[in-house]
Formats: sequence, C-alpha cells, structure tokens
Amino acid sequence: MSSSRKREIPFVKKLESSGYLIKPFLSNSQLKIIKEICDEEMKFSRVIKRGQTNELICDNRELLKRQSKLFDVLKNVGIVELFQSIEGLKLDIKSLNMSIEKTKFGVSQDHDIFRQWHVDTFASHYKAWIPLEDINDENFPMKYLPKSHLITFKRLFDEWIWSFKYKKGDYNINAISNQSRRANINKKFFYEKKSINLRAKAGTIIIADTSGFHRRGDGKTGSERYWLRFGFRRSPFIVKFN
Ligand SMILES: [Fe+2]
Repeated sequence: MSSSRKREIPFVKKLESSGYLIKPFLSNSQLKIIKEICDEEMKFSRVIKRGQTNELICDNRELLKRQSKLFDVLKNVGIVELFQSIEGLKLDIKSLNMSIEKTKFGVSQDHDIFRQWHVDTFASHYKAWIPLEDINDENFPMKYLPKSHLITFKRLFDEWIWSFKYKKGDYNINAISNQSRRANINKKFFYEKKSINLRAKAGTIIIADTSGFHRRGDGKTGSERYWLRFGFRRSPFIVKFN
C-alpha cells in the first residue's frame, strides 16, 4: 500500500466509518473559474435520454481530446492529493474517470433502476461529485444508508447468496441489463428511514462508497442538477471493518 494514503486524516476516517462524506472544497473564486470552464466544455457534450430525464455529459475522453484546461485547474486545487489520501494508490489526473454532467429531470419513474436501493459493487468503490450548483431536496440528491458499506457476517452471507442468483441470471430484475445488486424489497422502509440525503452547496465535494446501499433520491420535475462527477476504484486490499 502506498504511503500516500493518510488514514490518520480525520475526514478519511469519517469516510471509512460512515461510507460517505460531504466536505467544503473549492473557494468561491475557484468555483467561478471551474464553472466557467465547464460551461464552455458543455458545448461539446452529448445527450443521454433516460425516460423523460435528459442528461448532458462531457466525459473524460472528450475533455482529453481537446486538452481541456479543467485538468490543470483541478490539479492546482488539490484534487489528486485529496483522492490519493483516500485511495491509497498513486493517481494521475488524466486517468481519473471524470465527467461534467447536467441533468434536467423529467417525471420521476418508479421503474427507474437508479431509484431502487442497490449497491454498485462488492468491493469498495468511490464516487465523488463537486456540485457546480447547490444540491437540495428538489434536484434529486442521492440517498445513502450510512455504514452499509462495512463488511459484516450478514453482508458476507448476503453476497454469497447473491452470487448464486447472479450466476442464474436472477439479478436482472427489471429486464434491464445491470449487474448491481438490488436491495431486498422488504427492507425498503428501513432503508428510507435510516438513510440520509446527500445535499450539498456548490463547490463542496461529496464522496460516497457505492459498495454501500444507495439510490437516486426524490425531487421535482423540471429541476436541474449540474456537477462534476468522478469515479475511482479503491485498493481492494484495504480492510473496511468498522
Ligand atoms: Fe449506484
């Protein structure tokens, strides 16, 4: 394991024990500069339609192709150091899975798989977002079940059972090809009650271990969300018991 991972840093500890973190990150002037670059880059975005929701995405490949200024600016504000202290491995700004995303939400649909409680992976996997505009209860903040990323005997057992279902193909609950594991539907009430909404001000950073249970939250039709999104796989050998 690289020495760049600083377990003693309080925010890393907090993230490892609860599975999520919301932390101030950009100053107002940094946010302004980054937002201006993103507004410009979004002219090269592509549109993805999910039901009645429209997403404009400008991904890493597109940003690299045009040698976007965004890489240097993000490097200067310390994003690599921040992720390295969490990740435990050396990272390079250009190898980060990064995209600028602007979503305009249509009528929320119950069959939207992102709105069902699920885990993305068994091993720790971090996703991070820097909102360029505030995330509130109107623009579909993510819901997260704190501590659900931790390894327990129950979780190991559930994963073992799941591995058989996965093999049989039963994971394909909604006839949508998706390998992430859905939560037991009977647990829905419990998850709703114990979960939190990851609301955040523009310029903060939200980090979540998506091996914990989460879902796309609720919100208002017509609302918009604008953020920078990052994904990075954590070293699978970092123990995540409480
Ligand atoms: Fe997910």
